[in-house]
Amino acid sequence: MAGIYIHIPFCKKRCTYCDFYTEVAPKLIPTLVDSIVKELYIRKDYLQNEPIHTIYFGGGTPSILSKAQFLKIFETIYSIYSVNKDAEITFEANPDDLTMEFLNSIRTLAFNRISIGIQSFDDEDLKMINRRHSAKQAIDAVKNSQNVGFNNISIDLIYGLPFQTLEKWEKQLNTALNLQIQHVSAYGLTYEEGTELWKQRENGKVKSVDDETMNEMYLLLVKKMKENGFEAYEISNFATQGFRSSHNSSYWKQDSYLGIGPSAHSYNLSSRQWNVASITEYILAIENNTGFFEREELTLFDRYNDYVMVSLRTSEGINLTFLEQKFGSELAMYCFENIKPYIQSNKVSHSDNKLRLNLEGIMISNQILIQLMKV
Ligand SMILES: C[S@@+](CC[C@H](N)C(=O)[O-])C[C@H]1O[C@@H](n2cnc3c(N)ncnc32)[C@H](O)[C@@H]1O
Ligand code: SF4
Repeated sequence: MAGIYIHIPFCKKRCTYCDFYTEVAPKLIPTLVDSIVKELYIRKDYLQNEPIHTIYFGGGTPSILSKAQFLKIFETIYSIYSVNKDAEITFEANPDDLTMEFLNSIRTLAFNRISIGIQSFDDEDLKMINRRHSAKQAIDAVKNSQNVGFNNISIDLIYGLPFQTLEKWEKQLNTALNLQIQHVSAYGLTYEEGTELWKQRENGKVKSVDDETMNEMYLLLVKKMKENGFEAYEISNFATQGFRSSHNSSYWKQDSYLGIGPSAHSYNLSSRQWNVASITEYILAIENNTGFFEREELTLFDRYNDYVMVSLRTSEGINLTFLEQKFGSELAMYCFENIKPYIQSNKVSHSDNKLRLNLEGIMISNQILIQLMKV
């Protein structure tokens, strides 16, 4: 089983908190789509004929593409790969792009899941972080998607935005939960160095929410999600029954994936590689089929660290049997010995030969993780 990730690195404007590689360069969209098609051909052997079970258009802003541009990419993928009939096929969208006109135009394409970047349903928050949409547009985006027949909808929310109180966060969650969606990704705001928001904090224009309130916001999130039938299958991801994201899960299960487009990452069990993070350099390099990526061969420790890092965050936890089979008994023992103090202090549970964070453990997950890393 393998996945394909396509990075669409365009934004109509940049949000203040974001440090993902994207540019405001609409003129380059048609050329980039052609380069993506070329890269798909160039790298057609990367997944070694494995069947595809997820396709994910991420960004940036995939919803900036037209139906014809998506179609070009899909036709290429379907001509090269054997895509499972029930493959999960997602695109990320910004709310203001999800008009009835746009949704009707793309409805006949292969998509069966939309991930909508809402972040907040509060107009003041949205303005402060330079989002393009209003709260009403966010709600309309979900309703429009449902009206054209999408029944697997995820939304992204951010908690701990400057000036956000626990009460305001609860209001966000209530609005989200009224929308009959199937999946929520909720991230605590991070101040990424060099972003506009980071500068605003440096200049004293905004103040970060204190750690205690961040923790309370997270606890409230978990509580409300649970009350409303969502399972916390990963620290930041919540799904109703049957709607976990296969795309996310395949990262956590260490399936191979092919990442296409500027800055996209690929992984194939023995190496990881990443494309150049520049649209113009990427277009040129693909044209010449040379130097568009860097590659790193993975050592046993790298692969162990990757597995521990992602699985510790999931409700499945770290599977010690799997760990021993894949990485040997020494590393399995290393992991167990180092997590033992957290089992003893009730931050981690140990059952079925699996290690799972409990709520208190989640609060200090980074601290636990550092103890488990092997360098
Ligand atoms: C790179 S964005 C792509 C989605 C789409 N462009 C959008 O903005 O709606 C993926 C998600 O990462 C999250 N994100 C990005 N930067 C973040 C930050 N500094 N702190 C917390 N969450 C962040 C947001 O929830 C966002 O929806
Ligand atoms: S959050 Fe999304 S829309 Fe905003 S800058 Fe990042 S990728 Fe672009």
